[in-house]
Amino acid sequence: MRPNRSAGGLGFAAAVRFDPPASGLRGSLRVPPDKSISHRAALFAAMTPEPVSVTNYLDAADTNSTLAAVEQIGALVQRRGAGELLIRGCGLRDAHESDGPIDVGNAGTLMRLLPGWLATQPGRSWTFDGDSSIRRRPIDRIADPLRLMGARIDATDERFPPFTLHGADLTGIEYPMPVASAQVKSCVLIAGMTTAGGTTVIEPAPSRDHTERMLAAAGAPVERDGNRVTVRHVDELGLDAIAVPGDLSSAAFWVAAAVLVPGSRIVLEDVNVNWTRTGFLRIVERMGGIVLGDLEEHGAFTPGEPISELDVAHGPLSATTVEAEEVPLAIDELPLVALLGCFADGETVVRGAAELRVKESDRIQTVVDGLNGLGADIEGTDDGFVVRGGTGLRGGRISSHGDHRLAMLGAVAGLASREGVEVEGMDAAAVSYPGFVADLDTLLAR
Ligand code: S3P
Repeated sequence: MRPNRSAGGLGFAAAVRFDPPASGLRGSLRVPPDKSISHRAALFAAMTPEPVSVTNYLDAADTNSTLAAVEQIGALVQRRGAGELLIRGCGLRDAHESDGPIDVGNAGTLMRLLPGWLATQPGRSWTFDGDSSIRRRPIDRIADPLRLMGARIDATDERFPPFTLHGADLTGIEYPMPVASAQVKSCVLIAGMTTAGGTTVIEPAPSRDHTERMLAAAGAPVERDGNRVTVRHVDELGLDAIAVPGDLSSAAFWVAAAVLVPGSRIVLEDVNVNWTRTGFLRIVERMGGIVLGDLEEHGAFTPGEPISELDVAHGPLSATTVEAEEVPLAIDELPLVALLGCFADGETVVRGAAELRVKESDRIQTVVDGLNGLGADIEGTDDGFVVRGGTGLRGGRISSHGDHRLAMLGAVAGLASREGVEVEGMDAAAVSYPGFVADLDTLLAR
């Protein structure tokens, strides 16, 4: 049975129905370009004085917000074809003030990285705002270190957007981060590049390191020593070309679908397998799922981003526990761990993931409510969840709450359920994966 795409009009955003297919998902797919690396490609190209060519840039709502933002502050973005850009930047110290506020839309990464650069522009200021979800997401985590470095930030209720950032000549700091956040680390390192003595960030646990890799590729002196990452002063960046690999976080939905739906065997091509992103694959393997690929990179710190195909097959799962150390390496995929847990024998536990509460939605609450509504036995805790698994999912209706990853979670839940799932607000997927439903059709066509 092909998934039924009927849109239900219940006064909410259109609902889309996903039914269990008669046979498994089969075939190969190129997943969308990586969202984190696309954001960074646009931002770093905008900081570079010479033109930078970017291929395979993600054409989705979040990363289009980043292109609009860099244009607003003086970069010229030439769109040359699907995912192909030539970005003529401003140079590190020449970002322009913009006429109106910078609208980050739904993009937390844009909201937390761009201020790191703009804080280094003395005498200039910018206001940042975004959608209703972004207005609930804290910015004190970047405002605190930027203030320590000498910038001024006036935020709503001290810690939310809209906020105004006043640039300054910054002073280098050594900053022990209170949360393991790649966005905060990136913001401080970007700001730190212009400081005379450099800047060090101390991570409580490793988080994605795309910024460090791109800084190194751009010629900035950056080094890692255990949990300390240091960037030293640089006058200009030099980057010629950036090729964005496929997004592991988007691939993860198909990995989960293939593991859960009987009869499935799929290949995902050119997926970024930077070890700071592949925590989910290690969790799936621990649960007994079969994912083949070149996943050897561990602890490596190189300027490049490794890619691999992922060959995934259906199989039985057993429960696992995810501890705090592993959380940043799988942060965006933890909702999928909850889904897998519903089908795994035993109790699946995620701990140390309070960060989920400040994502595009409160992902502990929305995942727990959403999956319980489909027949799961899952309980939220302050910093994670406990799933009593083995019984699968009945199906029903789930809301995306405007959160792209919740929408796609609901779709995969529908494929794996007994009775199908209707996802309210499926359109939210366009934030990171506009072609999600079309790609599902490809994997169901035979
Ligand atoms: C991102 C880092 C993560 C992740 C987000 C993208 C990035 O956020 O959840 O989707 O591109 O740096 P935190 O660093 O706040 O955990």
